[in-house]
Amino acid sequence: MKSFFALALPLLAAAAPAPITEPRAEANPNFNVMAIRSASPIHYSQLNAAGQKFWLGGKTSSYCPDIDGIQCPPGNQTVLASGGNSLDVEVPGGQQVYVAPSGALSFTQAHSANIPPAPQSAPWSHYTFNGWGASGFMACPTEDNRWQVFVAMQNATVPQGNVSDCLGFSAMALPYKGEVPAWQYA
Ligand SMILES: *[C@@H]1O[C@H](CO)[C@@H](O)[C@H](O)[C@H]1NC(C)=O
Ligand SMILES: *[C@@H]1O[C@H](CO)[C@@H](O)[C@H](O)[C@H]1NC(C)=O
Ligand SMILES: *[C@@H]1O[C@H](CO)[C@@H](O)[C@H](O)[C@H]1NC(C)=O
Repeated sequence: MKSFFALALPLLAAAAPAPITEPRAEANPNFNVMAIRSASPIHYSQLNAAGQKFWLGGKTSSYCPDIDGIQCPPGNQTVLASGGNSLDVEVPGGQQVYVAPSGALSFTQAHSANIPPAPQSAPWSHYTFNGWGASGFMACPTEDNRWQVFVAMQNATVPQGNVSDCLGFSAMALPYKGEVPAWQYA
């Protein structure tokens, strides 16, 4: 699959150089995402993975099997890997990030490589999307007081039906240095 997510480098330049013994690749660090949209309810909110989609507000949803030999990570924060193409998880096969035809930023179920065809490669700035006539992300209000994350395309299919209710935001990538945060997101 051709990658259409990438993480802009200037932000990462601010991160301290990693010691040589650091086991986790630093050239392409993992990161949390924080929304920036001043004077709005979503300013500084964290990106959370839940139900194969992404949200501002609410909680990260994860799963870890109760199997001998598996040490379950806390699974309570959402971390992206590989320039934003996938999630930072332990589950074999990993979990990929993609944009659904509705415009919703989405992730695959564990044990499934079932991704709709990706549009052509497009650059991110911070962590952003420029494809399908969209420029960046927007967050759209839901019935349960969260904001669902979409790419900012006018024809997105949003929870309350009207794209004018959505707020564009800037997705700031904060480098994450800890252990793998989740077995899998769910
Ligand atoms: C996640 O859970 C761990 C362990 O219970 C806790 O120490 C940590 O503060 C939590 N982190 C977040 C982002 O909620
Ligand atoms: C939305 O518009 C874009 C750009 O015109 C187009 O590529 C995409 O297929 C459209 N998506 C839907 C769901 O209509
Ligand atoms: C969507 O919201 C805008 C701004 O509030 C409004 O002007 C427009 O009529 C709404 N469209 C629909 C289809 O409800």
